[in-house]
Amino acid sequence: MAKLKEKGINPGLAVIIVGDDPASRVYVNNKKKACEYCGIKSEEYALPEGTTQEELLKLIEELNGRDDISGILCQLPVPEHISEEAVINAIDPKKDVDAFHPVNVGKIMVGNYDFVPCTPAGVMELIHESGIDVSGKECVVVGRSNIVGKPQAMLLLHENGTVTICHSRTKDLAEKTKNADILVAAVGKPNFITGDMIKPGAVVIDVGINRMPDKKLCGDVEFETAEKIAGAITPVPGGVGPMTIAMLMKNTVKAAIVNKTK
Ligand code: GUN
Repeated sequence: MAKLKEKGINPGLAVIIVGDDPASRVYVNNKKKACEYCGIKSEEYALPEGTTQEELLKLIEELNGRDDISGILCQLPVPEHISEEAVINAIDPKKDVDAFHPVNVGKIMVGNYDFVPCTPAGVMELIHESGIDVSGKECVVVGRSNIVGKPQAMLLLHENGTVTICHSRTKDLAEKTKNADILVAAVGKPNFITGDMIKPGAVVIDVGINRMPDKKLCGDVEFETAEKIAGAITPVPGGVGPMTIAMLMKNTVKAAIVNKTK
């Protein structure tokens, strides 16, 4: 960070949160803390639930124009009266550290990108740091969201994995998951993937963060049964979650370099 600052490049992240969803509040606090830890300036815009779409888009427009703000993110979900698509489209693609804007989504599709969505990027970083080679492996992604499932599949494909995307209409899911050398669970259903759905020795990456009635966090994978079968597995909490935040910091620094933020 010091080297960047010597060059007159100062990363700055604007984090917008609309309403008081408790999970979003925790995520935003964690993002701000990470900025502090890394020496990245962060500005929080906590807007009331009743904020209009017009007001939100006006704020994004102002942030797009500021040369001391390199990255902008609006925590999702936004309240129902605001169009998520309009918000995503309003953020300047060069400041889109979530990589949700269609321009950045398209770049990921063709394999020439600056920003990768933080969660799939974090999953890839875990795979690389664990010395796992994706090339030629059977990769199964369970979940097809724009935030995780779809870009995750693309990133695995770019590394020459043979990728299958499964979803709620997939027939005989266990047959597909049992075929996976690398299994990414991103469905948002607690304990959905059980040990008997996993190939012995497989790499199992759990993207789920589900809050249980007792307030404990739980993944999409039933850890107790899965860890006995998997060759490598990530826990929840403490697996993919911190990686997502680390990738956000990486994207913010990249954005500062691209935008030469002062
Ligand atoms: N809501 C859940 N995950 C994310 C994320 O990665 N970015 C934003 N902006 N909102 C989210």
